[in-house]
Amino acid sequence: MCDGPITVECIVADVSDLQRLLKESWTLVEEQQERLAGNFYARIFLKQPAIREMFPVTMDVQRARLLGAIVTAVQAVEDPERFDDYLRALGRDHRKFHVQAEQYEVVGAALIESLRAFANEEWTLEYDQAWRDAYDLAARKMLAGAESDCNPAWWHGEVITHERRARDIAVMTVRPLQQLNYRAGQYVSIESPTHHPRVWRTYSIANAPRADGTMDFHVRALGAGWLSGALVRRVRVGDLVRVASPMGSMVLDRRSTRDIVFMAGGTGLAPIRALLEELTRFNRTRWVHMFFGARDRSDLYELPYLQTLAETYPWLSVVPICSHDPSWGGEVGNISDVVSRFGPWRKHDFFVSGSPAMIRASLRALRNLQVPHTRIRYDAFSDH
Ligand SMILES: Cc1cc2nc3c(=O)[nH]c(=O)nc-3n(C[C@H](O)[C@H](O)[C@H](O)COP(=O)(O)OP(=O)(O)OC[C@H]3O[C@@H](n4cnc5c(N)ncnc54)[C@H](O)[C@@H]3O)c2cc1C
Ligand code: HEM
Repeated sequence: MCDGPITVECIVADVSDLQRLLKESWTLVEEQQERLAGNFYARIFLKQPAIREMFPVTMDVQRARLLGAIVTAVQAVEDPERFDDYLRALGRDHRKFHVQAEQYEVVGAALIESLRAFANEEWTLEYDQAWRDAYDLAARKMLAGAESDCNPAWWHGEVITHERRARDIAVMTVRPLQQLNYRAGQYVSIESPTHHPRVWRTYSIANAPRADGTMDFHVRALGAGWLSGALVRRVRVGDLVRVASPMGSMVLDRRSTRDIVFMAGGTGLAPIRALLEELTRFNRTRWVHMFFGARDRSDLYELPYLQTLAETYPWLSVVPICSHDPSWGGEVGNISDVVSRFGPWRKHDFFVSGSPAMIRASLRALRNLQVPHTRIRYDAFSDH
């Protein structure tokens, strides 16, 4: 036990060994994730039936959601600094589910029992201990985050504008009924009690904080997606949504003097737009290069706005990119390929936002360009 802040080193002597054990043991059950998730939930609900009430009525489509989320979060132990901030924020955010401290133990025990059951005789004591240590650490950080926050667990917000900007993209403005403080670049969980009670999904806030507290969201409806479809097609002006605590590390470091590269794919533009708006309030010295990519030109839904910004602020350049539009006359390809063609970028701060696939490709490209990891900001702990 440590007296000071809880760190990975307090719990285990060798963090790389812990990572190895978590990864190695996960490969034993990875292919049985669906069944493992079913088993995990059954154990939780059997131990504490009241926990079922926290989840959406139908869980078929997203059976592995909590399980996948916990496994990803626990394994992020390899990046202690991001891990710490993320888990504290996640703990604050989990207050929206009314999670009680002792329920962390119920969930942790169910997780380890299910892993043990599915890995059969290949499960070792070392694996058991590694999952206990990592889960315990994550749970303690989440609880510490929840306890230190005296803001509401969630806010009601009224939808005051709602506009379709492309076939499956809507931009809506929400006015929280009470003060909600956040930083440009952060995201929040949203629930629509009218359309999908208890289904919370994360959306980036697309503007820098305003005096009237309103927040813009850019939402793309995914084919089978629950909440995104409702937010794009069914939500109307006047509807109430619920918004949980702001999270995310993709914020500007005002002390940095380095020039900036923004890489945004589709509605991944939202947090970047907020950061750009913040920069317009104070930037006089940093060049900002913005790469905005989509499949085709109709999905470059905010291009006119970005071009107007670039005409107003001499420090900003905007490069629009299409990956699948034969009639497009501009840059063609994936964002990461185009950014690699432009460079060199060794002295820049990077902000990357988009689908998990886009983020993975961008991180690979930036590694090849020898951009230090510490200069790259992105938020992708779960599905985007
Ligand atoms: C940090 C963060 C910020 C985010 N910000 C935004 C934002 O600003 N705007 C925005 O539109 N979204 C954003 N997302 C994604 C958002 O949280 C949801 O995942 C998305 O809207 C889908 O939710 P859903 O309920 O409609 O789909 P779900 O019900 O969760 O998914 C239903 C099915 O859709 C499919 N599916 C889910 N995600 C994808 C995908 N990305 N591509 C293809 N198929 C998929 C899966 O097969 C899944 O089974 C963000 C995600 C993260 C983690
Ligand atoms: C270390 C412990 C835990 C971690 C890392 C974790 C992480 C996460 C993450 C990342 C999500 C998805 C993001 C979101 O919807 O906000 C999630 C969802 C959720 N979590 Fe947790 N969680 C933990 C413990 C718990 C506990 C103890 C409970 C309650 C008993 C709980 C209840 C939920 C619920 C109800 C959801 C929504 C799931 C859904 O939509 O199907 N979590 N969790």
